[in-house]
Amino acid sequence: MATINPPKTTSTSALFDDLPTEKWINLANLYQWKGFWYRRPHLEAVMEARSSFKARDEDVILASSMKTGTTWLKALIPSIMDPNARIVENSTYNILDMPSPRLFRTHMPYAMLPDSIKTSGCKIVYITRDPKDTVLSLWHFMNSIRKPEERPFPLNEFFESFCKGLHPFGPFHDHVLGYWKESMMRPEKILFLRYEDMKRDTSGQVKKLASFLGRPFAKEEEVAKVVWMCSFERLKNLEVNKNGVEPDAGFPKSAYFRLGVVGDWKNSLSMEMKKQLDEITCNKLEGSGLDLLN
Ligand code: A3P
Repeated sequence: MATINPPKTTSTSALFDDLPTEKWINLANLYQWKGFWYRRPHLEAVMEARSSFKARDEDVILASSMKTGTTWLKALIPSIMDPNARIVENSTYNILDMPSPRLFRTHMPYAMLPDSIKTSGCKIVYITRDPKDTVLSLWHFMNSIRKPEERPFPLNEFFESFCKGLHPFGPFHDHVLGYWKESMMRPEKILFLRYEDMKRDTSGQVKKLASFLGRPFAKEEEVAKVVWMCSFERLKNLEVNKNGVEPDAGFPKSAYFRLGVVGDWKNSLSMEMKKQLDEITCNKLEGSGLDLLN
């Protein structure tokens, strides 16, 4: 599955001098553009995509914040669309040459998506998750890709930064709300999934996903096969995921398969942290009809 990352055609460097910037957990500078925070290469890719990406009606776009279950959907969608399809892993692959249906993934906020994605007949699948598990998963992920001699990021600082919305593609809640509101208005265009529902009723959610993609299952055995093929236990133990490297960012693939459960935040976040983040979530989502808390 390719990233929406067309080749660069114009220089955007002048623009960066004028954008608000903040240091993220002593790791990278983030730039704020139209309400969301990005690392510079990500923002450059967003800008390029907005100016040059042309969606086709048959395209499927997997959208998400970081650490909400993207990897799971990245396995499920191709398995449903074409069980024999080879997943395109390399973002330098020429997307114009890709045969339809093209499968893309992105962390772009809804408002930032190229217009042709919004106006064409292509479909968007969005996955999200309780922000408490999301922030903890992100913290573990960022620690797991550090050098062995480096210490873990202080959880308190990491958490505070997340609560302020200062993280790549943040604020988390604004990201979620953009897709949620659009999915309410255009359910045939955007399927909104929650990681917790996927864990609780995997078969039911996978059937819903397949119907949304226009590939409903004919037999229960087919559902069971796809669920098993894409299960955490199976994927985590594949040789390629134990020892391979993710081609876009260069991260070890094993970092994408940690625990795969709901509610692991209870083992690391304090009750004060839970209260603080739950309050933010309730305030932000109030009146939206969306519930993200577990
Ligand atoms: P944890 O860190 O809580 O274990 P993303 O794919 O968006 O980066 O999200 C990563 C999270 O999804 C991690 O959560 C990871 O373990 C979990 N995950 C990855 N593959 C999964 C699968 N097939 N089934 C369930 N969870 C999965």
